[in-house]
Parts: sequence; structure tokens; C-alpha cells
Amino acid sequence: QHRLLIDTDPGVDDALAILMAHAHPDARIEALTIAAGNVGLVHTVANALKLCEVAGIDAPVFAGCTTPLVHAAEDASYVHGRDGFGDTGYTPAARAPHDEHAALAMLRLSREAPGALTFVMLGPLTNLALALRLDPSLPSRVKRLVIMGGAVTGRGNTRIPVEFNIGFDPEAARIVFEAWPAFELVDWEATLRHGIAHDTFDAWVAGDDPRARFYDGISRQTRAWSAARRGEQWHSADGLAMAAVLEPDGVVERHERAAFVELDGVLTRGATVIDWDRRSERAANATIVTHYDRARFETMIRAALGVRNA
Ligand code: BDR
Ligand code: CA
Repeated sequence: QHRLLIDTDPGVDDALAILMAHAHPDARIEALTIAAGNVGLVHTVANALKLCEVAGIDAPVFAGCTTPLVHAAEDASYVHGRDGFGDTGYTPAARAPHDEHAALAMLRLSREAPGALTFVMLGPLTNLALALRLDPSLPSRVKRLVIMGGAVTGRGNTRIPVEFNIGFDPEAARIVFEAWPAFELVDWEATLRHGIAHDTFDAWVAGDDPRARFYDGISRQTRAWSAARRGEQWHSADGLAMAAVLEPDGVVERHERAAFVELDGVLTRGATVIDWDRRSERAANATIVTHYDRARFETMIRAALGVRNA
């Protein structure tokens, strides 16, 4: 059983990843810790609570940092909508977030279940970096850390070599990459390799399961944007990362390397730099997932949306 703490900035693909975890027979969502990222924290918290209500997820929700550690926030509302969930005007959830900061919840939950939790990072790494600064022994109590982030050969999705989650809060990412001894990284370039045809995805979200109905609504703008911008395929970065969490034996290709975060470059601030040819002294800290079993990924998505015969 995977016991998951999911740190997330929902976000359209975050929502799919959370639904995948909820639907999976071998996983339990123990907590959602919320980051600012795709849009501001007010929206990402409200979206997480709404998704939980729609899907029947009863895990506690903890709000985290409202801004990156050092610099001002940028957002991705051009991808996810002004409210991060496609501006559908949904009725807010009845439930409120728990009264504990996300970083403190990470520390407490890791102490209550040492070695049991998998931390899944689907947004900027702000909350985790803060938790690490408060308690540098945190990694010793976490079973696995899986991060969606980076562009491992320099093909980013915000600035040229920069992926959004790392670029939103590069200082936080630097703290995590330096302090965490071994983590798994599912990057933007892997995401691009695992696209799903829009027609196929459109058919899946057309179902009558409440999760499909909700997801159809919140992802509509993003799917249109993506079709116009990136062509025939739909990409779910957070979904792919979640697949690697839920069924690690579905990973087809992985590489263990040292991974760094650039803070200073004019063009490269927020870039992930991977030591592919082992030039640095640093030991490998990242297991980089490059290829995943497509059929298994698709099966998990169909289950998440309640597609019949999933
Ligand atoms: C990442 O950035 C966000 O827009 C997505 O939710 C995903 O976590 C992809 O770069
Ligand atoms: Ca995300």
C-alpha cells in the first residue's frame, strides 16, 4: 500500500493525478498539502477542497506558502484558467482546510509514521523546502520522494530551459535538490514523450461518472489551449509522475544522476542541470524517469475518470 502525502497546486493536471491516486487499489491519500503555483494559494486550496468533495476524498487539506521563498510569484493561469480550474464557476466546497501549515503538517505526519509515507510533489517545492529548513532530518523519515519538475536536457515549458514547478521557486528547488539524498524525478520532457491523443482523452472525459463530468469541465479550456499550442496530443505532467508513484514497475527507463538547480543565469535561472556524463564530484541524488509503460499510464487515467471497462 502506498501511503501518500501529495503536495500540489491544482491545477488541471494536478487534479487528474489526485484522481489517479484516489482510484488506485494500492494507494491511500493521507494528506494534501497545498502550494501556490499554477495560480494563487486561495484558488489552489479551494480547488483541492472541491476536487475532494466531488471525488469523495476525505484526506485532510493543509494550506502552505502563499509565495515563493525569495522572489515574486509568476502564474500559469494562461494554461489552467484564472482560478486554476478552467473558470467553471463551481460552487465552493463545504469543507475548509485544516488549521496547520503545510510544512508543519509534513513534519508532523512524517514523525507519526516514520518511513511510511511517500511524498509526491506536483507543484513548486516551497512547502517542502521550508519543512527541510525547519527539520533537516525529514528525509530520513520519508519512504520515497517523487518530484514532477525540471527539463532534464534543457527543453523547458516556461523559459527556454526552465520547467514551471522549478522555475516558480528555484531557491526552494535548490534547497530540496541539495538536501534530499535520493529522489525520483519525472520531468517535462518525459511528459512530452507520453502524450495522449486529444480524441482519445475527449472520449474518456465524456463519460457520466461524476469525476469525468467534473474533469471535463475544469480541463476544457486547457485542452483547447493545448490543442492550439501543442497539437494533437494532451499532456499530463502530474499524471505521469503519479503513475510512476503508483506503479513503479511500470517505469521502462530510468537514469541515476546528480541533479542541480541553476539560480543565477540570465536565460537559465530555474533550470535543472543534470550531470549526464558524470563530470561533477556529486553523487547521484536523482533517479530520472524517462520512459513509462504507456498502457499502464492510460489504464490508471481511465480508472481515475471512472471510464467503463477501465
Ligand atoms: C507542471 O507545471 C504545472 O503547470 C503543472 O501542474 C505541472 O505540475 C508542469 O510543468
Ligand atoms: Ca502541478
